[in-house]
Amino acid sequence: MKIIRRPQELQKLMLELKRRNKTIGFVPTMGALHAGHMSLIQAARKENSILVVSIFVNPSQFSPNEDLNRYPRPLKQDLALCRGCGVDFIFLPSPEDMYPEGFTTYVTVEGLSGLLCGRSRRNHFRGVATIVAKLFNIVCPSSAYFGQKDAQQAAIIKRMIKDLNMPVKLKVLPIIRGSGGLALSSRNIYLNQAEKEDALVLSQALRLAEQAVKKGQRTAGTIVNSVKKFIQKKRTVTLDYAALVDPDDLLPVKTIRRDSLLALAARIHRTRLIDNTVLKLK
Ligand code: PAJ
Repeated sequence: MKIIRRPQELQKLMLELKRRNKTIGFVPTMGALHAGHMSLIQAARKENSILVVSIFVNPSQFSPNEDLNRYPRPLKQDLALCRGCGVDFIFLPSPEDMYPEGFTTYVTVEGLSGLLCGRSRRNHFRGVATIVAKLFNIVCPSSAYFGQKDAQQAAIIKRMIKDLNMPVKLKVLPIIRGSGGLALSSRNIYLNQAEKEDALVLSQALRLAEQAVKKGQRTAGTIVNSVKKFIQKKRTVTLDYAALVDPDDLLPVKTIRRDSLLALAARIHRTRLIDNTVLKLK
Protein backbone atom coordinates (compact mmCIF):
# COMPACT_ATOMS: atom_id res chain seq x y z
CA MET A 1 0.00 0.00 0.00
CA LYS A 2 1.42 3.32 -1.07
CA ILE A 3 0.69 6.53 0.84
CA ILE A 4 0.64 9.58 -1.38
CA ARG A 5 0.31 13.12 -0.10
CA ARG A 6 0.85 15.29 -3.18
CA PRO A 7 -2.13 15.67 -5.55
CA GLN A 8 0.09 16.01 -8.64
CA GLU A 9 1.95 12.80 -7.82
CA LEU A 10 -1.24 10.75 -7.43
CA GLN A 11 -2.80 12.27 -10.55
CA LYS A 12 0.25 11.38 -12.62
CA LEU A 13 0.19 7.78 -11.36
CA MET A 14 -3.54 7.45 -11.97
CA LEU A 15 -3.36 8.81 -15.50
CA GLU A 16 -0.67 6.27 -16.25
CA LEU A 17 -2.79 3.41 -14.83
CA LYS A 18 -5.78 4.62 -16.85
CA ARG A 19 -3.65 4.60 -19.97
CA ARG A 20 -2.91 0.95 -19.22
CA ASN A 21 -6.69 0.29 -19.07
CA LYS A 22 -6.80 -0.41 -15.33
CA THR A 23 -10.14 0.13 -13.60
CA ILE A 24 -9.75 2.47 -10.65
CA GLY A 25 -12.13 2.14 -7.70
CA PHE A 26 -12.23 5.12 -5.36
CA VAL A 27 -13.58 5.54 -1.83
CA PRO A 28 -13.41 9.12 -0.52
CA THR A 29 -13.47 9.38 3.29
CA MET A 30 -12.66 11.70 6.15
CA GLY A 31 -11.04 8.83 8.06
CA ALA A 32 -11.97 7.43 11.50
CA LEU A 33 -12.90 4.39 9.47
CA HIS A 34 -15.60 2.00 10.66
CA ALA A 35 -17.53 -0.92 9.18
CA GLY A 36 -19.59 1.49 7.05
CA HIS A 37 -16.45 2.71 5.28
CA MET A 38 -15.14 -0.85 5.15
CA SER A 39 -18.19 -2.05 3.24
CA LEU A 40 -17.42 0.53 0.53
CA ILE A 41 -13.73 -0.38 0.47
CA GLN A 42 -14.48 -4.11 0.22
CA ALA A 43 -16.94 -3.60 -2.65
CA ALA A 44 -14.47 -1.36 -4.49
CA ARG A 45 -11.72 -3.95 -3.95
CA LYS A 46 -13.83 -6.68 -5.55
CA GLU A 47 -14.85 -4.65 -8.58
CA ASN A 48 -11.63 -2.90 -9.66
CA SER A 49 -8.02 -3.64 -10.47
CA ILE A 50 -6.77 -0.60 -8.54
CA LEU A 51 -8.21 0.66 -5.23
CA VAL A 52 -7.70 4.19 -3.95
CA VAL A 53 -8.95 5.48 -0.60
CA SER A 54 -8.63 9.14 0.34
CA ILE A 55 -8.52 10.32 3.93
CA PHE A 56 -9.02 14.05 4.21
CA VAL A 57 -10.98 16.00 6.80
CA ASN A 58 -12.24 18.62 4.39
CA PRO A 59 -12.33 22.08 6.02
CA SER A 60 -14.64 23.60 3.39
CA GLN A 61 -17.57 21.38 4.38
CA PHE A 62 -17.50 22.45 8.05
CA SER A 63 -19.11 25.66 9.32
CA PRO A 64 -17.07 27.75 11.76
CA ASN A 65 -19.20 26.49 14.68
CA GLU A 66 -18.82 22.81 13.73
CA ASP A 67 -16.41 20.07 14.81
CA LEU A 68 -13.52 20.46 12.32
CA ASN A 69 -10.90 20.68 15.07
CA ARG A 70 -12.16 17.84 17.21
CA TYR A 71 -13.08 15.52 14.31
CA PRO A 72 -11.36 12.15 15.11
CA ARG A 73 -8.11 11.46 13.21
CA PRO A 74 -6.91 7.95 14.21
CA LEU A 75 -4.53 7.75 11.25
CA LYS A 76 -2.47 4.72 12.34
CA GLN A 77 -5.58 2.65 12.88
CA ASP A 78 -7.09 3.81 9.56
CA LEU A 79 -3.95 2.86 7.66
CA ALA A 80 -3.90 -0.60 9.27
CA LEU A 81 -7.55 -1.16 8.29
CA CYS A 82 -6.85 -0.11 4.71
CA ARG A 83 -3.78 -2.31 4.52
CA GLY A 84 -5.89 -5.25 5.72
CA CYS A 85 -8.42 -4.61 2.95
CA GLY A 86 -5.90 -4.61 0.14
CA VAL A 87 -5.99 -0.88 -0.61
CA ASP A 88 -3.37 0.03 -3.25
CA PHE A 89 -3.13 3.79 -2.72
CA ILE A 90 -4.01 6.01 0.22
CA PHE A 91 -4.36 9.65 -0.69
CA LEU A 92 -3.53 11.79 2.32
CA PRO A 93 -3.34 15.40 1.21
CA SER A 94 -2.85 18.44 3.43
CA PRO A 95 -5.42 21.26 3.58
CA GLU A 96 -2.75 23.53 2.08
CA ASP A 97 -2.32 21.27 -0.94
CA MET A 98 -6.08 21.00 -1.51
CA TYR A 99 -6.83 24.68 -0.83
CA PRO A 100 -3.70 26.62 -1.73
CA GLU A 101 -3.60 30.37 -1.33
CA GLY A 102 -5.82 32.08 -3.85
CA PHE A 103 -8.28 29.16 -4.07
CA THR A 104 -11.62 30.56 -5.30
CA THR A 105 -13.34 27.88 -7.42
CA TYR A 106 -16.30 26.07 -5.88
CA VAL A 107 -18.86 23.58 -7.21
CA THR A 108 -22.42 24.31 -6.16
CA VAL A 109 -25.19 21.85 -6.92
CA GLU A 110 -28.07 24.27 -6.71
CA GLY A 111 -31.43 23.37 -5.28
CA LEU A 112 -30.46 20.03 -3.74
CA SER A 113 -27.78 21.62 -1.56
CA GLY A 114 -30.19 23.97 0.21
CA LEU A 115 -32.69 21.30 1.28
CA LEU A 116 -32.78 18.98 4.33
CA CYS A 117 -29.31 19.18 5.99
CA GLY A 118 -28.49 22.16 3.78
CA ARG A 119 -30.99 24.30 5.69
CA SER A 120 -28.99 24.17 8.89
CA ARG A 121 -25.53 23.51 7.40
CA ARG A 122 -24.98 26.45 5.06
CA ASN A 123 -22.21 25.82 2.49
CA HIS A 124 -21.75 22.23 3.68
CA PHE A 125 -22.70 20.67 0.36
CA ARG A 126 -20.76 23.27 -1.59
CA GLY A 127 -17.73 22.05 0.35
CA VAL A 128 -18.60 18.41 -0.32
CA ALA A 129 -19.23 18.87 -4.06
CA THR A 130 -16.03 20.92 -4.42
CA ILE A 131 -13.77 18.42 -2.67
CA VAL A 132 -15.34 15.43 -4.43
CA ALA A 133 -14.92 17.13 -7.82
CA LYS A 134 -11.27 17.87 -6.98
CA LEU A 135 -10.70 14.29 -5.79
CA PHE A 136 -12.29 12.90 -8.96
CA ASN A 137 -9.95 15.07 -11.04
CA ILE A 138 -6.94 13.83 -9.10
CA VAL A 139 -7.88 10.13 -8.81
CA CYS A 140 -9.63 9.73 -12.20
CA PRO A 141 -11.78 6.87 -10.85
CA SER A 142 -13.76 4.50 -13.05
CA SER A 143 -16.16 3.98 -10.12
CA ALA A 144 -16.63 5.91 -6.88
CA TYR A 145 -18.27 4.39 -3.81
CA PHE A 146 -20.55 6.29 -1.46
CA GLY A 147 -22.85 5.30 1.42
CA GLN A 148 -26.62 5.60 1.49
CA LYS A 149 -26.09 6.81 5.07
CA ASP A 150 -25.48 10.26 3.57
CA ALA A 151 -28.41 10.06 1.15
CA GLN A 152 -28.42 13.78 0.36
CA GLN A 153 -24.69 13.75 -0.31
CA ALA A 154 -25.15 10.79 -2.68
CA ALA A 155 -28.01 12.57 -4.50
CA ILE A 156 -25.87 15.68 -4.89
CA ILE A 157 -22.85 13.76 -6.20
CA LYS A 158 -25.13 11.90 -8.63
CA ARG A 159 -26.45 15.25 -9.93
CA MET A 160 -22.94 16.73 -10.16
CA ILE A 161 -21.59 13.74 -12.14
CA LYS A 162 -24.49 14.03 -14.56
CA ASP A 163 -24.46 17.82 -14.89
CA LEU A 164 -20.70 18.06 -15.37
CA ASN A 165 -20.35 14.95 -17.59
CA MET A 166 -17.88 13.37 -15.22
CA PRO A 167 -16.68 9.97 -16.48
CA VAL A 168 -17.32 8.25 -13.13
CA LYS A 169 -19.76 5.47 -12.23
CA LEU A 170 -21.44 6.19 -8.90
CA LYS A 171 -22.09 3.26 -6.57
CA VAL A 172 -24.25 3.88 -3.53
CA LEU A 173 -24.15 1.10 -0.93
CA PRO A 174 -26.49 0.34 2.00
CA ILE A 175 -26.24 1.80 5.49
CA ILE A 176 -24.24 -0.31 7.93
CA ARG A 177 -25.65 -0.27 11.47
CA GLY A 178 -24.48 -1.31 14.93
CA SER A 179 -26.18 -4.19 16.70
CA GLY A 180 -28.91 -1.96 18.22
CA GLY A 181 -29.63 -0.36 14.86
CA LEU A 182 -27.63 2.88 15.23
CA ALA A 183 -26.18 3.87 11.84
CA LEU A 184 -22.39 3.76 12.12
CA SER A 185 -20.76 7.19 11.93
CA SER A 186 -17.33 8.58 12.77
CA ARG A 187 -19.20 11.05 14.98
CA ASN A 188 -20.67 8.30 17.18
CA ILE A 189 -17.49 8.43 19.29
CA TYR A 190 -18.74 11.77 20.63
CA LEU A 191 -21.65 9.90 22.29
CA ASN A 192 -21.46 8.39 25.76
CA GLN A 193 -23.22 5.11 26.52
CA ALA A 194 -26.52 6.73 27.58
CA GLU A 195 -26.53 8.96 24.51
CA LYS A 196 -25.85 5.97 22.26
CA GLU A 197 -28.89 4.27 23.74
CA ASP A 198 -31.01 7.39 23.27
CA ALA A 199 -29.83 7.62 19.66
CA LEU A 200 -31.45 4.26 18.92
CA VAL A 201 -34.76 6.13 18.79
CA LEU A 202 -33.80 7.34 15.29
CA SER A 203 -33.52 3.92 13.64
CA GLN A 204 -36.51 2.70 15.67
CA ALA A 205 -38.58 5.55 14.22
CA LEU A 206 -37.53 4.55 10.71
CA ARG A 207 -38.51 0.92 11.36
CA LEU A 208 -41.91 2.12 12.60
CA ALA A 209 -42.45 4.02 9.36
CA GLU A 210 -41.45 0.97 7.31
CA GLN A 211 -44.03 -1.08 9.21
CA ALA A 212 -46.72 1.54 8.58
CA VAL A 213 -45.99 1.48 4.84
CA LYS A 214 -46.08 -2.33 4.85
CA LYS A 215 -49.54 -2.12 6.40
CA GLY A 216 -50.67 0.18 3.59
CA GLN A 217 -50.07 3.70 4.91
CA ARG A 218 -49.27 6.02 1.98
CA THR A 219 -49.84 9.52 3.38
CA ALA A 220 -46.53 11.30 3.92
CA GLY A 221 -47.92 13.70 6.54
CA THR A 222 -49.19 10.86 8.70
CA ILE A 223 -45.91 8.92 8.46
CA VAL A 224 -43.74 11.98 9.16
CA ASN A 225 -45.89 13.04 12.11
CA SER A 226 -45.69 9.66 13.76
CA VAL A 227 -41.91 9.61 13.27
CA LYS A 228 -41.64 13.09 14.82
CA LYS A 229 -43.87 12.15 17.76
CA PHE A 230 -41.91 8.98 18.40
CA ILE A 231 -38.56 10.81 18.41
CA GLN A 232 -39.81 13.76 20.44
CA LYS A 233 -40.71 11.40 23.30
CA LYS A 234 -36.97 11.12 23.96
CA ARG A 235 -36.23 14.39 25.72
CA THR A 236 -32.47 14.22 25.12
CA VAL A 237 -32.92 14.06 21.35
CA THR A 238 -33.62 17.30 19.47
CA LEU A 239 -35.05 16.66 16.03
CA ASP A 240 -33.71 18.92 13.29
CA TYR A 241 -35.98 17.53 10.58
CA ALA A 242 -37.86 14.44 9.49
CA ALA A 243 -38.96 14.51 5.87
CA LEU A 244 -40.36 12.18 3.27
CA VAL A 245 -38.90 13.16 -0.09
CA ASP A 246 -38.18 11.99 -3.60
CA PRO A 247 -34.74 10.28 -3.48
CA ASP A 248 -33.46 12.17 -6.53
CA ASP A 249 -34.74 15.75 -6.28
CA LEU A 250 -35.20 15.61 -2.49
CA LEU A 251 -38.51 17.48 -2.74
CA PRO A 252 -41.30 16.53 -0.34
CA VAL A 253 -43.82 13.96 -1.48
CA LYS A 254 -47.43 14.06 -0.28
CA THR A 255 -48.37 10.48 -1.07
CA ILE A 256 -46.00 7.57 -1.52
CA ARG A 257 -46.37 6.42 -5.11
CA ARG A 258 -42.86 5.09 -5.68
CA ASP A 259 -39.79 4.45 -3.51
CA SER A 260 -39.43 7.48 -1.25
CA LEU A 261 -36.67 8.61 1.08
CA LEU A 262 -37.53 9.12 4.73
CA ALA A 263 -34.64 11.20 6.03
CA LEU A 264 -34.00 12.65 9.45
CA ALA A 265 -31.42 14.62 11.38
CA ALA A 266 -31.26 15.15 15.12
CA ARG A 267 -28.96 16.44 17.80
CA ILE A 268 -28.03 14.68 20.99
CA HIS A 269 -26.26 17.21 23.16
CA ARG A 270 -23.68 18.65 20.69
CA THR A 271 -23.62 15.69 18.30
CA ARG A 272 -25.59 15.88 15.08
CA LEU A 273 -26.75 12.54 13.71
CA ILE A 274 -28.49 11.65 10.45
CA ASP A 275 -30.30 8.54 9.35
CA ASN A 276 -32.70 7.50 6.63
CA THR A 277 -34.53 4.66 4.97
CA VAL A 278 -35.98 4.18 1.53
CA LEU A 279 -39.67 3.33 1.94
CA LYS A 280 -40.22 0.81 -0.78
CA LEU A 281 -43.47 -0.07 -2.48
CA LYS A 282 -43.50 -3.71 -3.51
P1 PAJ B 1 -17.21 10.21 5.67
O1 PAJ B 1 -18.20 10.70 6.66
O2 PAJ B 1 -15.88 9.72 6.18
O3 PAJ B 1 -17.88 9.05 4.83
C1 PAJ B 1 -17.22 8.46 3.75
C2 PAJ B 1 -18.20 7.56 3.04
O4 PAJ B 1 -18.63 6.52 3.92
C3 PAJ B 1 -19.48 8.31 2.60
O5 PAJ B 1 -19.85 7.93 1.29
C4 PAJ B 1 -20.51 7.87 3.62
O6 PAJ B 1 -21.84 7.89 3.15
C5 PAJ B 1 -20.04 6.44 3.89
N1 PAJ B 1 -20.58 5.98 5.18
C6 PAJ B 1 -20.46 6.58 6.38
N2 PAJ B 1 -21.13 5.89 7.32
C7 PAJ B 1 -21.68 4.82 6.70
C8 PAJ B 1 -22.51 3.72 7.14
N3 PAJ B 1 -22.88 3.59 8.39
N4 PAJ B 1 -22.88 2.82 6.21
C9 PAJ B 1 -22.50 2.94 4.91
N5 PAJ B 1 -21.72 3.94 4.44
C10 PAJ B 1 -21.32 4.87 5.34
O7 PAJ B 1 -18.91 11.53 3.63
C11 PAJ B 1 -17.80 11.99 3.81
O8 PAJ B 1 -16.86 11.36 4.61
C12 PAJ B 1 -17.30 13.27 3.16
O9 PAJ B 1 -18.38 14.14 2.99
C13 PAJ B 1 -16.57 13.03 1.81
C14 PAJ B 1 -17.49 12.38 0.77
C15 PAJ B 1 -15.32 12.17 2.03
C16 PAJ B 1 -16.11 14.40 1.25
O10 PAJ B 1 -15.28 15.06 2.14
